[in-house]
Amino acid sequence: MSALSSAQQPSASPPALTRDRVFTGIQPSAGLPHLGNYLGMLRQAVAMQDRYEAIYCIVDYHALTSIHDGTVIRRNGYQMALSWLALGFDPDRAILFRQSDRPEHVELAYLLSTVVPVSWVERTPSFKEKRRDQPQDVNHALLTYPILQAADIAIYNARYVPVGKDQTAHLELSREIVRAWNARYGEYFVEPEAVFTDSPIVKGTDGLKKMSKSLGNVIEILAEPDVIRKQVMRMVTDTQRILRTDPGRPEVCNVCQLHRFLGDDYESIWDGERSARTGCVDTKRLLADRIIAFFAEARERRQELAARPGYVDEVLRAGADRLAPLARQTLAECRERMGLGGR
Ligand code: TYM
Repeated sequence: MSALSSAQQPSASPPALTRDRVFTGIQPSAGLPHLGNYLGMLRQAVAMQDRYEAIYCIVDYHALTSIHDGTVIRRNGYQMALSWLALGFDPDRAILFRQSDRPEHVELAYLLSTVVPVSWVERTPSFKEKRRDQPQDVNHALLTYPILQAADIAIYNARYVPVGKDQTAHLELSREIVRAWNARYGEYFVEPEAVFTDSPIVKGTDGLKKMSKSLGNVIEILAEPDVIRKQVMRMVTDTQRILRTDPGRPEVCNVCQLHRFLGDDYESIWDGERSARTGCVDTKRLLADRIIAFFAEARERRQELAARPGYVDEVLRAGADRLAPLARQTLAECRERMGLGGR
């Protein structure tokens, strides 16, 4: 992948240089990350591995709240890990693992759930959305989803959590949960902080909603070039620009907005739109070219890594093994404080 130019750097002011711990997770609801995952979280997570003790997780337990096909969960988890490695995650410096390989997360989630009033989880926006989007499948794990997320972070006492803006409510709830646990059993957990990039919510190809696999409005950054081109060319631009000669409004055009992150010359692209020197189709073509070029190296690397039998599974297994002592220690200390287990 080409080096990030200044316009493409994640948040200008990530927290100060320390070896504090960073944790984040991604659902294997798809195998290929989309541009929203990348601009909102992945590039920040990759950048943070240099300065922090980084722990990154494929959250397959969470994915079970919506995907019930074991083959899909396993395949997507593998593919997502492969993508993360291709995008610059370095297993020598940081840890990548599969959530279900550290089942201590689930026990900690149960322990934390004992301090969580039901009203806190019922009011979570993601629960309300899921209740609307999958009315046939309002399973109990959807309700407790944010408690497991809090446990993911708390079990490693991570301070920083790179995420997109859509995770704000979950992070706030994580903070409330550990605060409530600390109040009952004594100061123990760090209150985690969300770390956002300068593109915390990337809109989808519909130009309206957040880019999301379930809405089918994604640009899959590591897909084959012709797939990327198709996804970009169907993007909705400025809906008030009807004729080619109408001036465009880059401030409201999602294609123009995305150009900000894929080149230093976006202002001249915006000028072209404003003066109608360029049309929406030209600007989309250019965006597709840039996305394809920007991720070309990562796409190649993904293919190389995919050809190494067992490599991804080895990375995931080694990551989970390295985390075992820490996860077990946190759990043992919580159990002790909560009066559980024999001595
Ligand atoms: P998930 O799998 O939906 O998304 C992974 C990450 O990508 C970000 N993201 C976006 N950012 C900007 N614009 C978008 N359109 C966009 N779409 C997705 C998300 O904010 C997220 O950072 N609940 C989490 C997974 C999770 C987790 C955790 C995260 C489980 N445990 C602990 C942090 C810490 C989720 O569903 O992310």
